[in-house]
Amino acid sequence: MSEVKKDWYKELVVYQIWPRSFCDSDGDGIGDLKGIYSKLDYLKDLGVNAIWFSPLYPTPNADYGYDIADYRNINPEYGTLDDFKMVLEGAHERGMKVIMDLVVNHTSDEHEWFKESLKGEDNPYHDYYFWRKGKDKKPPNNWLSTFEGGAWEYNEDLDKYYLHVFAKKQPDLNMDNPKVREEVKDIMRFWLDMGVDGFREDVITFISKAEGLPNGFPLPAATGIEHYKKGPHLDEYLKEFREDVIDKYDCFVVAEGPMMTTSFALPYITEGPNKTLDMMFHFQHMEADCMVTDWVKVPFSLKKMKGAFSKWQYKLHNKGWNALYIENHDHPRIINRYGSLDYRVESGKMLAAMYMLQCGTPFIYQGQEIGMTNVNLTRLDEFKDVLTFNNHNLFKKLGYNEEKFVNHANKVSRETARSPVQWNAEENAGFTTGKPWFNICDNYKEVNVEAAENDPDSILHFYRKLIKFKKENKVAIYGKYKEYYPNSSSLYVYERVLNNEKLLVICSFKENSVKFKAPAGYDLSKGELIFNNYNDNKIVNNGFVTKPYEVRVYKF
Ligand code: NOJ
Repeated sequence: MSEVKKDWYKELVVYQIWPRSFCDSDGDGIGDLKGIYSKLDYLKDLGVNAIWFSPLYPTPNADYGYDIADYRNINPEYGTLDDFKMVLEGAHERGMKVIMDLVVNHTSDEHEWFKESLKGEDNPYHDYYFWRKGKDKKPPNNWLSTFEGGAWEYNEDLDKYYLHVFAKKQPDLNMDNPKVREEVKDIMRFWLDMGVDGFREDVITFISKAEGLPNGFPLPAATGIEHYKKGPHLDEYLKEFREDVIDKYDCFVVAEGPMMTTSFALPYITEGPNKTLDMMFHFQHMEADCMVTDWVKVPFSLKKMKGAFSKWQYKLHNKGWNALYIENHDHPRIINRYGSLDYRVESGKMLAAMYMLQCGTPFIYQGQEIGMTNVNLTRLDEFKDVLTFNNHNLFKKLGYNEEKFVNHANKVSRETARSPVQWNAEENAGFTTGKPWFNICDNYKEVNVEAAENDPDSILHFYRKLIKFKKENKVAIYGKYKEYYPNSSSLYVYERVLNNEKLLVICSFKENSVKFKAPAGYDLSKGELIFNNYNDNKIVNNGFVTKPYEVRVYKF
């Protein structure tokens, strides 16, 4: 068996900061860089060795930073470029790498390029975007935007439409224009030269659009997607970015790929001269309780979740590298989804071990390490996200009144995971001394970092131990994965093997008891129980009966 190629980015545990809600230093109710700086020691103690910053750039906040108005500066709400440099240096001094969000499928409509493009066809920036004439007073094609109705916005002065596959305020960049690609590469160099260690590339698989922008197959909120989810020049553009920039620095890139499959991803992430991306975020394991989007709920299926994880583990083995996550700023909190609020601590720990001990680089989203849960909003006007508003319009048509919609959105909207981090039991959970920009989750008096620090059985301490183990044990990083009992709808059991070391990870996704029997060849009494979420861990007949959401990890 050939050995998995070792690399530093494979040995990272990355912490994602969504800056607006992380920590506010100046009392304006919005998280900022000085707030982040004040928590670098907390992150170091947590043990993570990298930070991914969701966008920190100037933005009108139509999509909270994913609509960038200037790629080479810092959002004044968050601080200055000097503040950023201080954070970068502070992170590096503490042994943490830093990656930036690179959002280049689109800009903000308040970006200078777009403002210039509005000046007309003769302006050199006009062709930075997709400006097209309409057809019979209608948009150039039938594409829909994921965030806001049609994908084309009309401009009267130009008598033309521009394309936006996300919000209206997020015009798509025309990557076919070589000047745009040069701009992208310059932006990358700007941050890499400053010392950042890589990028998380936002919807990067959308950057090439089909020639002629043909009509798409009608789909709710996604008509046209087949013409850009893997466009004709995607390979070429990613190769250009890799060869001209990424390969020239000691850095890594993790791409976000909606609707990503292993066969789509592999050509980009397979080790070798053609590799253009180091890792890929896919969504398949996040679809075990919904259909296509978080907004269409179905009962949680453990088999679906396991199937997705295992598929990526098997298919990428010895070829490419997995990016592991169960939370980020685009999905509701995982305990609400795949765990249990009644067993918040137990299920929070189980879920942590379940994904972090797989093969791949784990990403932890802010607050996940203390078991934060969805914020509960009571009125429509408390929601803040463009996607929620768009879905409100769609759900109204399905007969949802405001109360029903708010109830639903509290379960499925991505903003439920964007509430401020709960630092302590004081007012506003210690996030700000002012009025927080967004509601704080009601459980902050019980669920907060300070309380978790003081409780040896907290989820936080469990994460610390897990992160340390993951970083220090090659079997947890490079070991070969094998799943047992794939047909069980209660247990997720897998092993990792490297040379003569073995891990056996046993996770129950049930409140009721389930009988677990060790797979053939295993003798549990010979293993060391290195992670568990209950103190009573009897073994009977080489197995045990699970407690609610029990996890046990044995090392052999
Ligand atoms: C993916 C980002 O994670 C999400 O937050 C954003 O709204 C879209 N891309 C558009 O940039």
